[in-house]
Amino acid sequence: MTNFPVINLEKLNGEERKHTMEKIKDACENWGFFELVNHGIPHDLMDTVERMTKEHYRKCMEERFKELMASKGLEAVQTEVKDMDWESTFHLRHLPESNISEIPDLIDEYRKVMKDFALRIEKLAEQLLDLLCENLGLEKGYLKKAFYGSRGPTFGTKVANYPPCPNPELVKGLRPHTDAGGIILLFQDDKVSGLQLLKDDQWVDVPPMRHSIVVNIGDQLEVITNGKYKSVEHRVIAQTDGTRMSIASFYNPGSDAVIYPAPELLEKEAEEKNQVYPKFVFEDYMKLYAKLKFQAKEPRFEAFKASNLDPIATV
Ligand code: OGA
Ligand code: NI
Repeated sequence: MTNFPVINLEKLNGEERKHTMEKIKDACENWGFFELVNHGIPHDLMDTVERMTKEHYRKCMEERFKELMASKGLEAVQTEVKDMDWESTFHLRHLPESNISEIPDLIDEYRKVMKDFALRIEKLAEQLLDLLCENLGLEKGYLKKAFYGSRGPTFGTKVANYPPCPNPELVKGLRPHTDAGGIILLFQDDKVSGLQLLKDDQWVDVPPMRHSIVVNIGDQLEVITNGKYKSVEHRVIAQTDGTRMSIASFYNPGSDAVIYPAPELLEKEAEEKNQVYPKFVFEDYMKLYAKLKFQAKEPRFEAFKASNLDPIATV
């Protein structure tokens, strides 16, 4: 099998631009995931984010996590746990408006650093969307516009730690799923591994790499590209030793954005075979996803296809 795709974004500026765009295209079509280096986010900012995230976890979350897992009896299970994950998380929202000031227990400096980091991730996500447009033959700005709705994109960060787990096979760090949204940018621990994606029916590790950003495609890009790019199933396996940090930022459509396949990407053949993805309002998709996250994505798309045929449907 070929290696996990690593893209050096700096090479977009030189004579290797074409080759780099090809690599991004190949990763989008065949992996649904890639890892970015030289992405322009300062390494010292990433180091500060990592240090403060780990400090915050130790100070405010670790003890609580241990107590919670003990109270649920998750440390001593004998059979696979199918309704819970071995993860400790909190969420930040940045757009359409920030809620960072309302999140409890964060020190001011950490709030400030996360705001700065999120802004840079947002810009990187937008740059990536335009690279995808270029590869897809869509006009520049198409995807950003498609996500815009009436108030701009929804953009948030899930800060997670995956503490050591006595039984990682029975309790997953995070059960297999695809991501509902648009494009996801992940700053993961550079030492403790655990993220895996499903490729050709095999679980493949997403290798930790210092100062890299892992990117993956969400369900909305699968719909807009009419399946040219697919959201790929992934999971986290907690380790028996070591706590894995992961900071995942989700650049998603605005809640009222109407999502549908880009007309330029609809091939005659797909239309004839009725292989066209559905049209829906993003927040309706999220309502369904909340109930079906850990199930296959196809029934989610099918549910909206059925409602598209309904003459009284409002979408
Ligand atoms: C997620 C996710 C992976 C990770 O939160 O959707 O897949 O490595 N996270 O934390
Ligand atoms: Ni995910």
